[in-house]
Amino acid sequence: MSKKVAVVTGSNKGIGYAVVRGLCKKFDGDVYLTARNEELGKQAVKSLNSEGLSPKFHQLDINDQASINRLRDFLRTTYGGLDILVNNAGIAYKQSSTAPFAEQTEVTIKTNYFGTLAVCEALFPLLRPHARVVNVSSMASAAIKKCSKEIQSKFRNPQLTVEELTALMNDFIQAAKNGNHESKGYPSSAYGMSKVGVTVLSEIQNRQLSADPREDIIVNACCPGYVDTDMTSHKGHKTIDQGADTPLYLALLPPGTKSPSGNFVSERNIKNWSE
Ligand SMILES: NC(=O)c1ccc[n+]([C@@H]2O[C@H](COP(=O)([O-])OP(=O)(O)OC[C@H]3O[C@@H](n4cnc5c(N)ncnc54)[C@H](OP(=O)(O)O)[C@@H]3O)[C@@H](O)[C@H]2O)c1
Repeated sequence: MSKKVAVVTGSNKGIGYAVVRGLCKKFDGDVYLTARNEELGKQAVKSLNSEGLSPKFHQLDINDQASINRLRDFLRTTYGGLDILVNNAGIAYKQSSTAPFAEQTEVTIKTNYFGTLAVCEALFPLLRPHARVVNVSSMASAAIKKCSKEIQSKFRNPQLTVEELTALMNDFIQAAKNGNHESKGYPSSAYGMSKVGVTVLSEIQNRQLSADPREDIIVNACCPGYVDTDMTSHKGHKTIDQGADTPLYLALLPPGTKSPSGNFVSERNIKNWSE
């Protein structure tokens, strides 16, 4: 059987870096630290090397389809599949940002939702039986509760497709550009809505993959908690290794796991994120 392989997006620093560290210790296979900036990625690999760990490196910008395709082709040729995918890469504007809301919405959703989706669409065909996918979302997905009842019911539709979800995300971006997102029933939270997208996407993906002929593939979304990283301007109270705990737990769910599956998980527990 070919060697097992794990990929973590956006792992040159922060929570993703700690997920790579944990996988190097616990996963029996090759672990890929990926970064959009090759130099930062290679520095991060060196830093883990100094701890006696041996992650491998591959460049990956989740907003660049050519970069995603290069990783996909490399994995297919080298490993013939993929066993763990942790979609961790993400961005957030600072609260103090003066960038217009429409810009914050478009840029944030481009990376957090569309970038994550593009990686999944390219790499899911490579997932082997028993593969685990972890989409790093956030408690900020609770932004759904600030949507109008009508918009909420669209996101909560248990038969929602990826195409319909994408249309909803595009509708929010367009409304933000038109300056009428609030009157259309959306909250003024670009990051929160991007993570609503990631959490709902995970539910749909798990539903689709559970009907896939490849057995026992599980997708979960999670919140890492409030973590001391650049994203939080180092205000988070958790260390990056504490933040990586739940993503690692989900990435390493043993074969045959029935639950969590298609859930939102925080502190290793399934949470009802939308109520
Ligand atoms: N920190 C928290 O308290 C917290 C709470 C809830 C959820 N989260 C989520 O946890 C994840 C990790 O956050 P973090 O706190 O570790 O943030 P971070 O320290 O800012 O790290 C984010 C990582 O994502 C990468 N990235 C951003 N855009 C990318 C792109 N287009 N392609 C590839 N990589 C990209 C960054 O690369 P560069 O170095 O090149 O920018 C960096 O490696 C995010 O999805 C975030 O939303 C964090």
